[in-house]
Amino acid sequence: MNEKTNCISVQSVPSVELNWQHWFARWEAMQSAYLPQREHRFDLMFCLPEFLQDAKLRILDLGCGPGSVTFCALQHYPNAHIIAVDADPVLLEMGREIELANYELQIANRRNVEFIQADLRDGNWWEDYEGAFDLVVSATALHWLSAGHLRETYRRVYCALKPGGWFFNADHIASDDPVTQAHYRQLLREWQQANFDTGVEDWDGFWQGFEAAVNQPELFAQREEVEYWEGSDDGNPKLFHITTLRECGFTDVAIHWQDLGEALIGARKS
Ligand SMILES: C[S@@+](CC[C@H](N)C(=O)[O-])C[C@H]1O[C@@H](n2cnc3c(N)ncnc32)[C@H](O)[C@@H]1O
Repeated sequence: MNEKTNCISVQSVPSVELNWQHWFARWEAMQSAYLPQREHRFDLMFCLPEFLQDAKLRILDLGCGPGSVTFCALQHYPNAHIIAVDADPVLLEMGREIELANYELQIANRRNVEFIQADLRDGNWWEDYEGAFDLVVSATALHWLSAGHLRETYRRVYCALKPGGWFFNADHIASDDPVTQAHYRQLLREWQQANFDTGVEDWDGFWQGFEAAVNQPELFAQREEVEYWEGSDDGNPKLFHITTLRECGFTDVAIHWQDLGEALIGARKS
């Protein structure tokens, strides 16, 4: 997606008429500059399990941001009902606006996404969803958690799935060998830099522009209130993920796609 050609300058977007679609597209472009084959990973999450296309699936998207994976899920499964969870009130607001716009533009034929503000580390909201989901998905979010909280999250995902349900996590997954991981990191940075050199904005650039455009200091103050980064840019080692998922009770644990330290890991609750 090339937003560079028709970018509206930040000052020219009055906050009352914020163009959420424009900012969603900028989010997508920014994330895609960091993550090789980002959309391919999303598609795989919904192609690999053998669900019928018209199935009324219940799907949970962890660390949903503005709903990138959620909206991809709806393209594959238009009748799905999706619970999209994130701690960030600003990204959730964007997700809600996009979902409403899709409905009004009749891209979606019903309101089938609930965006919920919650901390993944908080056990309380998980209790409402025991055995609730056919599919739990997450992209580029779980590496924000410490190893302990990730282990706990994997255990909660297992409880939240129906028997036969699938879990897919597309994220940074480190090599088990630190020397190899250092190479991965270097090669990924070079690839990312080449993208930024074409003019795509980075994380800080996106947030600077977006904050100015939204112009709601209270909303942005809220996202500063919770300190939820506690992870690592490399993610946890591959062996950690595989072992932990198996310990939680998952079967069919497998890496379905990998590019250097980026991977899609899948697991099933038998
Ligand atoms: C890089 S963004 C990815 C968003 C989206 N999945 C995507 O692929 O575009 C990571 C997201 O994880 C969320 N996140 C990180 N730690 C979290 C936590 N403990 N609870 C809830 N959300 C969290 C952040 O707020 C952020 O929206």
